[in-house]
Amino acid sequence: MGLKLDRFSISGKEVLPIIEGGKGINISTGLTAGSFAKAGAVGTISGTNPDFYDENGKYIPYSFNPKATRKEKHDALVEQSIRGCIAQAKIAHDVSAGNGRIHFNFLWEAGGTKIIMEEALSKTVGLIHGITSGAGLPYALSDIAGKYNIYYYPIVSSSRAFSILWKRSYSKTAHLLGGVVYEDPWLAGGHNGLSNQEDPKVMQDPYLRIVAIRKVMNELNLSHVPIIIAGGVWNLTDWSKYFNNDEVGLVAFQFGTRPLLTKESPISDSWKQKLLTLKEGDVSLNKFSPTGFYSSAVNNLFLQELYARSERQMMASRKQNEEFSCEIIASNGITKFYVKSADYDRALAYIKDGFDTFLRTPEDTIIFETQNTAELIKEDQQNCMGCLSGCRFSNWSENEKNNTGLLPDPRSFCIEKTLQDVGHNGSIDNNLLFSGHHAYRFATDPLYKNNHIPTIAELVEKISIGE
Ligand SMILES: Cc1cc2nc3c(=O)[nH]c(=O)nc-3n(C[C@H](O)[C@H](O)[C@H](O)COP(=O)(O)O)c2cc1C
Ligand code: SF4
Repeated sequence: MGLKLDRFSISGKEVLPIIEGGKGINISTGLTAGSFAKAGAVGTISGTNPDFYDENGKYIPYSFNPKATRKEKHDALVEQSIRGCIAQAKIAHDVSAGNGRIHFNFLWEAGGTKIIMEEALSKTVGLIHGITSGAGLPYALSDIAGKYNIYYYPIVSSSRAFSILWKRSYSKTAHLLGGVVYEDPWLAGGHNGLSNQEDPKVMQDPYLRIVAIRKVMNELNLSHVPIIIAGGVWNLTDWSKYFNNDEVGLVAFQFGTRPLLTKESPISDSWKQKLLTLKEGDVSLNKFSPTGFYSSAVNNLFLQELYARSERQMMASRKQNEEFSCEIIASNGITKFYVKSADYDRALAYIKDGFDTFLRTPEDTIIFETQNTAELIKEDQQNCMGCLSGCRFSNWSENEKNNTGLLPDPRSFCIEKTLQDVGHNGSIDNNLLFSGHHAYRFATDPLYKNNHIPTIAELVEKISIGE
């Protein structure tokens, strides 16, 4: 195809500028990261609740004392995550056979992130060469990288975010800034960094946003630091304009969605098959994540139910007054709310259809659910193990009260439960399927013809020649 991808130094070693996007839970693992590294590229282990094993190599699922408090469960989750990070780092190192580079990825807004990062890095010295983090503003990333003398890679979606991070902390550890990951907030799989000023429906040209980052970096004497482009990168032929381009500078590329469909990828066969059938538009942005961020996922039953639940929503009051005049009673015969007369018929129709249980949201509204689903929602909220720094679904927070001070929001869901399940062969219909927006290209890319599933070595080889 005529593409000549030059190797350059990433995390201290000459490698192909091809980087595996970190993917939790149990999606980018020691095996996938080690395979990317072995192929001369950069592999990324997700540090979000990674799997660990017993002495015979048997997978041990995360476990919690059901009687423990949320804080105690959170502490147990942190401890198990550290074990997982160490286990996966060892696998990646062995699989890589000393080739390439291996990074850890941490979701900045995950619970206990800083402790997990530090503990994991202190116990994997020599195995891990870089650390990357996004979703939120990972300002302490540079300090932690400095402490362990490894390279760091913030994931940002705008030049503004990078400028803030630089001023707040990165300028003190400039020498270890290995690259700046620009993750396109309209196209990348997983959580997306759209700001309040950006319209999820109006995509902006990545070129202009990347050039803006480079301009800021040049002004800060960071012209030698690569920008790692992530989000919607399918093949490098599409990105030829970005090579040898002074406005863009040194570039590398991060792939999150394509590695899902490889032999080493641990996702279920049914998920792999599903990827081969996706059409344009099957992946979209939604705002249900308990983190409060937008995220990109396959529009399956799981998401459709969340959309429907949010539709079955109206303003409601506990007290009757002029505005909220119409009484509705839940199937338990006890819970009563008053709704506006304009909403009354809609409320009665929901109740008639079996959505006869009312759940309050933090915004003075109620949603209508079946008794069964309402019980499941409450059960998930009670089983919370504090996987996030703040959770809108359960109102867990890492603050001293372990509570956001808001009502739990039943329009969201437990991301820990669903990602653990789908990352371990769970249903692909009833769980969240994170995906990048270009996943529809699996169906037509010749590499996957006749259901061919490549190895990571084969994928890296194809990417390196522009395919
Ligand atoms: C299934 C899936 C899970 C992901 N999980 C994470 C994650 O835990 N942390 C993270 O920083 N990025 C995560 N991402 C984003 C990827 O690392 C990567 O930046 C992104 O997928 C690149 O865009 P692409 O999907 O168009 O290739 C995830 C992406 C996918 C598809
Ligand atoms: S309820 Fe929220 S914080 Fe608790 S485990 Fe689930 S997603 Fe994590």
